[in-house]
Amino acid sequence: MVLVTGKGGVGRSSVTAAIATLAARRGVRVLVTEIGEVGSEHSPLARLFGRERLPDSVETIAPGISGSLLLSHVGQTLFLSSVLRVKALARAALSSDALRRLLSAAPSFREMGIFYHLLSYLREERREGGHAHELVLIDMPATGHTLALTGLPEILLKLVSRGPIATALREGQSLLNDPRTGAAYVVTLPETLPVSEALELLDGLAKTKMPVGGVILNRMPEDPFTKAEREALRPLLESRPLFGSEGFDRTEECRRAVARLDEISVPLVTIPEATEDGPGLVDFMAQALERNGGARRATAEPARERAP
Ligand SMILES: Nc1ncnc2c1ncn2[C@@H]1O[C@H](COP(=O)(O)OP(=O)(O)OP(=O)(O)O)[C@@H](O)[C@H]1O
Ligand SMILES: [Mg+2]
Repeated sequence: MVLVTGKGGVGRSSVTAAIATLAARRGVRVLVTEIGEVGSEHSPLARLFGRERLPDSVETIAPGISGSLLLSHVGQTLFLSSVLRVKALARAALSSDALRRLLSAAPSFREMGIFYHLLSYLREERREGGHAHELVLIDMPATGHTLALTGLPEILLKLVSRGPIATALREGQSLLNDPRTGAAYVVTLPETLPVSEALELLDGLAKTKMPVGGVILNRMPEDPFTKAEREALRPLLESRPLFGSEGFDRTEECRRAVARLDEISVPLVTIPEATEDGPGLVDFMAQALERNGGARRATAEPARERAP
């Protein structure tokens, strides 16, 4: 189970689609999910797979890739049917206005539904054996919601320590918090604020005991110069306006912004700024992940570093 997290607009959805594409190419059974919001009829993530929205339940959305929304009402119904053992009864219970009002006032009732829907996919097995979904990707909403989900089991278990809710929470918690089954990836941009937010998110994830797979530094401008070349060029660019100095300055600025990422203790993977959009972008990003996925450091000098 991989949670793709980060500040708004950093590229979480594109990264999710790129990981899914790369994994599917390697023959992994992938499920792409995002939390379904009431009234959200179009999804940028779904659009990367040529759809307006992800389906309510699992459907194939690309070769080797399934997709589904995570919907709180689906999770709530699944949960109640597992407790009440009769689906019709669960549906009747949830369609009662009075009961709905009561339940929606209950703490984290919505999150619990989403959590349970997710859990149902993690549990799903194939008839011929093995997990139905070997890799479940979750394109998480903005930062605060991520910590609400990863911190949910611990908080709710303080309120309910026994019974079927507690059992489901414990099962989900052990899958989330075990680095063999759960990982969060923090996506960020080479800018000061997104980097600060990524560092804060790493702290928050550690507090909720969520294992972190790595930080994905997205949209890093490609730098054709070696360190020595840059130093040789700088006085020249400062002395007179030259074509290309804007790009040079931006690259320097990005380097400065990401310097703080040198201190993180998790892998850092860089995806360069692309010129493509749509499916071309996803493919470009998948290739970058494949190329750089094993790299430990992105801010270190690239492998092509050579004498000036
Ligand atoms: N490596 C890249 N190079 C160029 N453009 C990119 C790259 N990654 C993402 N983008 C573009 O940045 C924009 C935001 O990306 P995306 O929708 O994936 O971000 P997000 O974090 O999911 O945003 P939101 O907070 O709206 O969900 C999109 O227009 C996307 O095409
Ligand atoms: Mg998105």
